[in-house]
Amino acid sequence: MQNNKSLKLRKGFFISFEGGEGVGKSTQIDLLKNVLANKEFNVLTTREPGGTKEAEELRKLLVTGDKKAWDSCSETLIFNAIRREHINKIILPAIENGALVLCDRFIDSTIVYQGLVGEVSEKDLLELHQKYCYNLYPDITFFLDLSPEKGLNRALKRQNTVENRFENLGLNYHQKILDGFDSLQKRNPDRIIRINADNDKEFISNEISNHLNKLLNIND
Ligand code: TMP
Repeated sequence: MQNNKSLKLRKGFFISFEGGEGVGKSTQIDLLKNVLANKEFNVLTTREPGGTKEAEELRKLLVTGDKKAWDSCSETLIFNAIRREHINKIILPAIENGALVLCDRFIDSTIVYQGLVGEVSEKDLLELHQKYCYNLYPDITFFLDLSPEKGLNRALKRQNTVENRFENLGLNYHQKILDGFDSLQKRNPDRIIRINADNDKEFISNEISNHLNKLLNIND
């Protein structure tokens, strides 16, 4: 039996959460953060677009306003600029410091939103990631799988109704987003774990914790 208190990660661990709108990523990140902090892990939560002060400013431009404000090529360039700074200034230092990094969205969102559903080729996206974002991939990704009808319904009920540029793209668009994540998960079954998000939040949180316990060799 391993004693949790003596459990120090030799290096950190990078976990991303992915899925469509309103699938409950931020709720699950908060719940997991508490579980891990109770086990005395050093936990850092962050998000994309965002993470740095400047990226949070760019976030406002990306997620609010007219749905036609940016085409998917322009979005790709901005998301990559944000990601590069985020990796350099926040994610890599935390990993090197032994932290568990919980990130709300990362490269898979770009592959799906700007690539599989948008008009940028996956080859270009992977090349950009390699050239400018250190080809960094999460150690593990939780894909919260929920029908866009339910997700959008939840997302549009949120208090923060300004951040709705992507939500306003309609149900058809969001069905394509779900299909994109579905195919990405099928292509990367070792890294991307599908979680049925049509359950209550404690049940989902337990499932995520169980996966992580196995991966990190943590005993309850
Ligand atoms: P959020 O509402 O889940 O925080 O994400 C903001 C929006 O940004 C969401 O609709 C998806 C979109 N997005 C992309 O299109 N590409 C990306 O690379 C990222 C990180 C987010």
